[in-house]
Amino acid sequence: MQHSARKLSTIITGDSQALTDSFAEDVDKGLSASPKYLPCVYFYDYHGSLLFEEICRLPEYYLTRAEAEILRTFAHEIISYMHPESSLVELGSGSCTKTQYIIDEMLKERDGIIYSPIDVSREMLKQSARSLLERYDNLKIISVAAEYEEGLSHIDTHTDEPKFILWLGSSIGNFEFSKAMNFLKGILRSLRPEDLILIGFDLEKDKGILEGAYNDSQGVTARFNMNLLARINRDLRAEFDLDRFNHHAIYNEAEHRIEMYLVSTCKQEVPIADLNRSYSFDKDEKIHTENSHKYSPEAIAALATEVGLSTVGQWSDSMEYFNLTLFRKRRR
Ligand code: AVI
Repeated sequence: MQHSARKLSTIITGDSQALTDSFAEDVDKGLSASPKYLPCVYFYDYHGSLLFEEICRLPEYYLTRAEAEILRTFAHEIISYMHPESSLVELGSGSCTKTQYIIDEMLKERDGIIYSPIDVSREMLKQSARSLLERYDNLKIISVAAEYEEGLSHIDTHTDEPKFILWLGSSIGNFEFSKAMNFLKGILRSLRPEDLILIGFDLEKDKGILEGAYNDSQGVTARFNMNLLARINRDLRAEFDLDRFNHHAIYNEAEHRIEMYLVSTCKQEVPIADLNRSYSFDKDEKIHTENSHKYSPEAIAALATEVGLSTVGQWSDSMEYFNLTLFRKRRR
């Protein structure tokens, strides 16, 4: 390949002011609603991103290991479908640890890669780019600090190559089915026939295993959940007392999803200075902070049909806990 792309890294920052403004607005909206909720995208400030990396190393959180096993075993086969000139794009790239399986395989077949990670944490993007550039000589990294849609629009204006998009970690599970569909339809509009998207899905399984993954014995997931309140304290000058909330995660079988909550342990009023008001909580009142949908093979197929995607290949780990599916735009 002709990109002799040595030690290059650029950060394109999305509209970070808009993200900050929408945080205040979304917190007010969610805490004024009944039942209360907070959007899970706000977990991932720098502290939250580090806590999530810690979650990925927990013995109970099988998702990361299962997905890494699939990539370790099948990366060669997966990239065999890739156009030889493709650039690599990753949605919600985090620490980029699993991406390295794909990069290693790609570099066996070409001299250089353009890699565009998209993540809301600018700090995480800087760190992961630094460590990737230490490891590889022939990467050009164009990081985009933004939410997914905005990030993809930046990439469309910066690269001409065909795209191989990674959306790993079962982040799709954090979307409602209809939102996942609309989001993928949006991506599809900008895809060309040779573009591919690899999506990680966490599969339905025993309730005990699922609930264990979100209620780990070291309390890291609890701290991750609680970081939302800590972030509101930091960024919006709020006075949440973290000792007055508990982490709660259960599997809702009817909805095929883990639901995470923060539960108020007492009746309380919490002032948020930047919002010029207080919010009241009853004892045991919950703030819904996250859904994590678990897919069946049928649900994956239904999603593909609805969106207009064709399945190119599917891979699973030895326990059949996790699934990676490679899609392309359906030909009419
Ligand atoms: C990022 N996302 C796929 C994780 C999940 O499993 O839904 C976030 C997470 N929440 C609690 N633990 C991990």
